[in-house]
Amino acid sequence: MPLDIVIGAQWGDEGKGRMVDLLASQADYVARYNGGDNAGHTVTVGEQTFKLHLIPSGIIHSHTIGVLGSGMVVNPATLLEEMERLRAADVEITPRRLRIAFGAHLITPAHRALDAAQEAARGKGKIGTTLRGIGPAYTDKVSRHGLRAEIFLDPASLPEKVEAHLARANRLLTRLYTAEPLDPAPIVEQFRAYAETLRPYIGDISSLLHTALRKGKRVLAEGAQGTLLDLDQGTYPFVTSSTPIAPGALTGLGLGVGCVGRVIGVTKAFQTRVGAGPFPTEVEDSTAEHLRGTGANPWDEFGTTTGRPRRVGWLDLVLLRYALRVNGVTELALTKLDVLSGLERIRLCTAYRRDGETFTDLPFGPGSLEGFEPVYQDFPGWQEDLRAARRWEDLPDAACDYILHIEDQMGVPVTLVSVGPEREQVVEIV
Ligand code: GDP
Ligand code: IMO
Ligand code: MG
Repeated sequence: MPLDIVIGAQWGDEGKGRMVDLLASQADYVARYNGGDNAGHTVTVGEQTFKLHLIPSGIIHSHTIGVLGSGMVVNPATLLEEMERLRAADVEITPRRLRIAFGAHLITPAHRALDAAQEAARGKGKIGTTLRGIGPAYTDKVSRHGLRAEIFLDPASLPEKVEAHLARANRLLTRLYTAEPLDPAPIVEQFRAYAETLRPYIGDISSLLHTALRKGKRVLAEGAQGTLLDLDQGTYPFVTSSTPIAPGALTGLGLGVGCVGRVIGVTKAFQTRVGAGPFPTEVEDSTAEHLRGTGANPWDEFGTTTGRPRRVGWLDLVLLRYALRVNGVTELALTKLDVLSGLERIRLCTAYRRDGETFTDLPFGPGSLEGFEPVYQDFPGWQEDLRAARRWEDLPDAACDYILHIEDQMGVPVTLVSVGPEREQVVEIV
């Protein structure tokens, strides 16, 4: 059985969590491979809404095993909170059901303090990070100073390793950023306690998933963030520090290239972005309010992790085409189509124009988006409420035209369309 990968095809918050929840009904393992608690994945099942930050969204189905891969950065404090929240909602969280890669890196309070200090120091050029310590934790990983989850397996050497990390971080905080140093003693004690609780969850994820795939089990990889936030292929420097694109699933789970099956690119029917950076199809008029919502609905465009209003705009096929390329997307899942109901006109960016020249592909990748004018194709809107649609035939013609046009331009099928946040509010296109 192959590994199927769900990725965000935009700037994050595409609705990956709800699509993973849907696809996890057919999976044995669901594995997060990148990022940390900067992610916020929402799953709505009946009256219950789950907001997952570290644990894969597929954990809500009781038959799955959830995995945190070595490509992740894990804050043990928020992980333990999330484990408790899920238990309180009657989701089984035991070492049988949840496995953490020994090679996953740990986020400490010092990483969070450094994230805040670095953002403050960037001034006007700030990235608008989630302040969860993501960048500093990956920096430590790359500079080979990181703390990995495996330190929880050896309590004797843990204090020394945490102390060395904090001493180094304190030097940076005080000398480079003139920030307050952290008191090491309580943090070391906290990490000792985390070790006691989390030790039974830590294991060899690569071996676990490899064996599972060989036995014919189904593994679903859940990406966090999105293609345009990818460290290598995104809108650098306004990116996160991990690899959200599909190849990140292989390095982040320790699997080889031969096992990949479907690559499901999740994209909203429009486009959003949190934080700073270029956004060619951004809108700021009354349409923005329509797309964002006012905050009255739980699905309105305000960050799950930070509560910040998201920037909104029209779906950008130049960027989506790029996302298909760098991920090897085999099919698209289109979310939040219901939000477009009630608009007179719906715009789709099909190309960019600059200095009289038209581009359907990016000449220098998404890192240099400045100066492009979007070229729009306009579609008539529809007034019908889509939230009860469950089959293709239930969708108004104008909505079908919009979807068919996206498929046509992208050259891959749209296999899932969601029309509300609920697990059931999906049109599967067969
Ligand atoms: P993720 O980070 O990609 O998992 O996405 P988020 O959970 O951060 O953001 C998606 C938001 O849209 C959540 O509030 C979801 O409940 C909501 N949502 C997902 N799909 C749909 C949909 O089809 N329609 C509506 N109205 N809301 C949706
Ligand atoms: P999910 O998984 C949307 C953005 C931040 C910021 C940039 C860098 O829910 O789709 P970081 O804290 O990672 O160093 O911030 O990345 N960002 C996200 N935007 N969805 C996310 O996750 C994000 N995770 C990070 O807003 O612009
Ligand atoms: Mg999110």
